[in-house]
Amino acid sequence: MGSGSEKRVIKVLIVDDISDTRENLRKLLAFEADIQVVGDAGTGREAIQVAGEVQPDVVLMDINMPDMDGITATKAISTAVRTAAVVIMSVQSEPDYLRQAMLAGARDYLTKPISSEELYATIRRVYERNEPIRQQEAQMASMKTVRAEVGKPDYGVPGAGAGHVIVLYSPQGGVGTTTLATNLASALMRQDTRVLLIDCDLQFGDVDAFLNLQSQSSILDLIKAVNDLDMEIIDNVLVTHTSGLKVLVAPPHPELAYDIRADAVQQLVEALARSYDYVVIDTSTQYDDMTLKLFDVAERIVLVSNGTIPAIRNTRKMLDIFDHLKNPPNLSDKVFFVLNRIPTDRERSRGMVPVASIENHLKRKVDSIIPLEERTVLTSVNQGVPLVAKLKTRSPGREMAELAELIRQAVEAQERQIDATQLPDTRSKSGIRALFGGTG
Ligand SMILES: Nc1ncnc2c1ncn2[C@@H]1O[C@H](COP(=O)(O)OP(=O)(O)O)[C@@H](O)[C@H]1O
Ligand SMILES: [Mg+2]
Repeated sequence: MGSGSEKRVIKVLIVDDISDTRENLRKLLAFEADIQVVGDAGTGREAIQVAGEVQPDVVLMDINMPDMDGITATKAISTAVRTAAVVIMSVQSEPDYLRQAMLAGARDYLTKPISSEELYATIRRVYERNEPIRQQEAQMASMKTVRAEVGKPDYGVPGAGAGHVIVLYSPQGGVGTTTLATNLASALMRQDTRVLLIDCDLQFGDVDAFLNLQSQSSILDLIKAVNDLDMEIIDNVLVTHTSGLKVLVAPPHPELAYDIRADAVQQLVEALARSYDYVVIDTSTQYDDMTLKLFDVAERIVLVSNGTIPAIRNTRKMLDIFDHLKNPPNLSDKVFFVLNRIPTDRERSRGMVPVASIENHLKRKVDSIIPLEERTVLTSVNQGVPLVAKLKTRSPGREMAELAELIRQAVEAQERQIDATQLPDTRSKSGIRALFGGTG
């Protein structure tokens, strides 16, 4: 994930009861431009207080100190300042202490005497590893700030997120809709871009399995509360992937989907979209009332197919429907047409319809081709880590990341266009322009 490496400065808090040790560490760290000592403390209690004030990224923590030991302080700081990674400093190796420290939330340890190289490397390593937590906290903080600024008790803050809704759909099962949904959502994430992934395959949704998530709650809990949503309910129901991606999972059993009404889903998506920049929605192969409502809400529809005849036939039917659904704008204008699982070698291409023939038959250009890479994709699913988060430079992660950028550009270009057309109303010049009937 991009860690904004241009100008990051790692804020360090030093905790040790011996002032010479604190001084030595300070001197060592002064040489490093990307590390800044933001405070120090001589006792565990003081450490907790200072950590709360300076919000360090990394805490260097001694174990044996008067008043409160480093392990107790580690526990307190890890809970209170979630973005702080504690590194224990111990004399020789004290395996028992170290185990306790790790259980208390420490991320790493250094053995005294500490070499400068080891010190720098450890600080940078734990800082990097904490990136997902920082992203997650930043996301939550920004949502809370917007809410506080607007001063509304409910989360329904128009403008808090750009609210681009991207729906992934395929009339054919097994073509990789869920694979693409998880990867697109992950790829759209940025430090300043909040993304929510919703599993609207209500009966057999498997986004949680793809991302290795366990959740006690699901979309069902928000549907039940759809007329009475607030930040707390939403926060309790969404799960956070280790990458920081927010996810709303499908109900745990197929029969629980029976009572979910299409307009409640639409209402929920529209409400959630106000707090996110992108809402990515995975769907089932069903073409029903809910799918139609999601198509309506969607700013873009990613229509997924593969190179087999049944999938292309079904895609044909879908494109026909899109062409005829002109509840403005024409739905097919929103469509990104993606071919997934396309073999790159001749051997595996046998029996597949060539891309050019597909385009001819459908009278439509393919927007993106994602190669078939069975092993890479399976490994990623088994690990619960989207490809774009790990193997962005290799196929098919690369093509998935490119598709995400294509969508981002299209959506943001459109946003700028809308902004531009609205601009005259907000500028004083508009009056003059209006008087002269100018088009600008
Ligand atoms: N580009 C790809 N290369 C190889 N295997 C893929 C690719 N995309 C998806 N798969 C695999 O195809 C299977 C079906 O994918 P899935 O995303 O569940 O499809 P759908 O949601 O359309 O039913 C999964 O086993 C997945 O690992
Ligand atoms: Mg699926």
